Amino acid sequence: MFNKKITIAIQSKGRLYEESKKLLSNSGISFRIIENRLLTRASNVNVDILQVRDDDIPSLVSNKVADLGIVGKNLLDEQLAGDKSLSVKEIINLGFSKCKLCFAKPKDSTTESLNNKIIASSYPNLVNQYLKQNKIKADVIKINGSVELTPYIGIADYICDLVSSGATLEANNLEATETLMESEAVLISSNDVDDTNFFDLVNRFKGVINAKDSKYVMLNCDESNIKKICSLLPGSESPTIIPLEQKNKFAIHALCKEPVFWETMEELKENGASSVLVLPVEKILN
Ligand code: PRP
Ligand code: ZN
Repeated sequence: MFNKKITIAIQSKGRLYEESKKLLSNSGISFRIIENRLLTRASNVNVDILQVRDDDIPSLVSNKVADLGIVGKNLLDEQLAGDKSLSVKEIINLGFSKCKLCFAKPKDSTTESLNNKIIASSYPNLVNQYLKQNKIKADVIKINGSVELTPYIGIADYICDLVSSGATLEANNLEATETLMESEAVLISSNDVDDTNFFDLVNRFKGVINAKDSKYVMLNCDESNIKKICSLLPGSESPTIIPLEQKNKFAIHALCKEPVFWETMEELKENGASSVLVLPVEKILN
């Protein structure tokens, strides 16, 4: 597997770190990361993991020091907007670290629009692009951390920052106004690269991502309820229907590719299902 070495750059700490490691290990890559070490070699496949600052990932991939990189779309788009020489492309969305880049202002502020305001952000390129597109005139100041404090020390009217749970805004008495972009972790490669080299690995990543929300559901029901029950199974293509020993009784087995909530199970039961089992799915290879 993986005849040619594949090097993947991931964030060494921060919001993407844990989930990036989890994706790699669920994809069958065995490794033991030692803190503060730049390079980790997988023990079972021909893969090297580079642990770096997330700001460095797009250029490492663009310069082909790494074949693949895992970064937030927010950071990638900010760098692409500011550096036309970066040559990277998104391969797949990874489905974790979902957040939004939002404008926000103090809850008690009476300002109505961004016009002629001062906006503090760690994403000045994206903010300037947004202002231009929306024909808004405002000043943007670049702040690398604690952006949420800037309205209170009098250096900005608005901020534009990442919002995930909303706890940071809430704690700082700020409210979101508009959303500039939605973001999540993405897998990137260089624009001009022979992707057959990492095709199999990307397929494994897809298999892990596909399986994440999927569940294997098994239940029993009377023949008369089969149709209705099949229609209630979320994201299932063609369930397996097996006759049971008891007359007119059937078992339905289905791969559900959308989340199966307690509410879904209760609805199945109300429609005649019994012994409803929901099992986790680890990997899917389509
Ligand atoms: C981001 C952002 C907010 C916080 C939002 O910071 O700048 O501070 O997350 O998340 P919440 O809505 O769940 O509170 P991050 O943790 O990436 O660290 P940083 O500001 O130090 O870069
Ligand atoms: Zn922050």
